[in-house]
Order: sequence, then structure tokens, then C-alpha cells
Amino acid sequence: MNTVAMYNELAEWWPLLSPPEEYAEEAGIYQRALLSHTNRPIRTVLELGSGGGNNASHLKARFTMTLVEPSAGMLAVSRRLNPECEHVQGDMRTARLDRRFDAVFVHDAVCYMTSERDLRAAMATAFVHCEPGGVVLFAPDHVRENFRTSSSHGGHDAPGGRGLRYLEWTTDPDPSDTHFVVDYAILLREPNGAVRVEHDRHLQGLFARQSWLDWLGDAGFEPAVVQVDHSGLEPGEYEIFIARKPALRTMRERPASPEDRRGEARGRDERRARA
Ligand SMILES: C[S@@+](CC[C@H](N)C(=O)[O-])C[C@H]1O[C@@H](n2cnc3c(N)ncnc32)[C@H](O)[C@@H]1O
Repeated sequence: MNTVAMYNELAEWWPLLSPPEEYAEEAGIYQRALLSHTNRPIRTVLELGSGGGNNASHLKARFTMTLVEPSAGMLAVSRRLNPECEHVQGDMRTARLDRRFDAVFVHDAVCYMTSERDLRAAMATAFVHCEPGGVVLFAPDHVRENFRTSSSHGGHDAPGGRGLRYLEWTTDPDPSDTHFVVDYAILLREPNGAVRVEHDRHLQGLFARQSWLDWLGDAGFEPAVVQVDHSGLEPGEYEIFIARKPALRTMRERPASPEDRRGEARGRDERRARA
């Protein structure tokens, strides 16, 4: 479980740090990417690491969303925003809902997979929850090839006097390891005007594009990289992974029909006759 303050003791402040309306453009991009990479109709979508439910607040207009998130505070924020969605407390490395979805969506929460082992575990979770012929979308903030040191700031005010402002500073102090660092300086203003400051350090995974593709392939997917154009980003700054789960094709995978069983028996007999 990730222990950063932002998703735990500061979770209630999330909508002032990252409000749902700021997600409309990117949610549209993810929706189109999911729909255009499978022939299967997409009705049900599982989101792993759904946070405050900002993407879901847009995607739910098109899909029936089930939202998995480990932090109780973030789940509470998302439940308020998305009361019509199913919420499940869980970790993307280990969650097992014992059902499958037409698509699985893993947004920036996948950045909290900071080792190969964790990232492969998240890929396995996505695989077991995806219907054959369905599709999984992973949207890490960076792959090693497009990582840049950067800083930005933002924040909002709520009616009644609460307010939040932050400075976000993204660096990679050790390029030989598998993570980068995001430091947040967060100013929190209470309705009585009192302001306090919090420093919150987030470690986020950084892996080469080819490692992503290899590990998705190992998990059983047919993976592809898709460049994303977003009005807030430079061209080439952001790419996502679309991973198709193969449709059932082999005899062993498919629930056998009587015809299949007859064919299988014929094949077995022919192999025996040849041996
Ligand atoms: C930036 S927020 C996600 C915001 C989300 N994209 C939205 O639309 O509101 C990142 C989330 O990842 C979650 N997270 C961290 N580690 C996780 C894990 N192992 N499994 C699932 N979620 C995780 C955090 O609790 C946090 O809510």
C-alpha cells in the first residue's frame, strides 16, 4: 500500500489538487483508444488504481465502471463523485475479483509500480480480469525514453474558504534505477485562513518502452505503443500501451463443443496411428 500523504491523510483535498473537469480531454482519448483497439463491444470496464475517480467521472457516461483503489480516503472521494459506480478496495498487484471485464484501464496509478516485479504483477491482474478478445490500456506518465525533468504548479479554491496550491517537481536523481521522484510542496488553507505546508515525496516507476512491451507479451497480451496528442503536452511527450488479450483460438482454451471434442479425438487417433 502506497503511504504518501496525498492519497491518505490528505485524500480529502484531492479535488482541489486535481479536479474532475481537468480530465475531460484525456478521458476522451482513453475512451477512443479502448474502442478502436478491439472488435468486441465494450460495456464493462475495470479501472485499477482509480484514485478520486476523475477519469471514471467521464468514462462512466459510456461504460459500466468498476473501480479498484487501495486508499480508503480516495475511495471515499470517488464514491461521492461516482455513486453509481461499483467501488472495491484493492491493490492492482493482488486484486482478484473473480470476474472478467470487456476492458481494463490503468491510468497514472501504474506509476506507483516501481519495480519489474510490481509492474509484472499489475499486468497479470489486468490479464486475468480481461475477457479474451478484450483490451487493456496502461497509461504511465513516462517511459524512460520520454522522461524529462520538469516542474509545474496548480491548485484550486473551494466555496467556504478552503484552498490548495502546489508545486510539483519531477526529477530522476539516479538514472540507473527503476524509478524517478516527484516532490510536492503543498500549501493547504483552512476556512479560518490558517495555512500549512506539506512536503510529499512520491517514487514512480520508470521503465524502457521495450521492457513494457516484453513484459506485456510475457503476460499473454498482444501489446502496442500509441502516441497521444493532448492539448496540454508537447508532441511525443506522452505514450500509452494498448494490450489486446487474444481471443480464444486453441482447442485447449475454448470450452469444447461436441464438434470440437469429436475433432480432438480424431486428431488424437491420427497421431496415435502415425506413432
Ligand atoms: C494520481 S492518483 C489516480 C487518480 C486517478 N487517475 C483519477 O482519475 O482520479 C494515483 C492513485 O494510485 C493509487 N495507488 C497507489 N498504489 C497503488 C496500487 N498498488 N494499486 C492500486 N492503486 C494504487 C493511489 O492510492 C492513488 O489513489
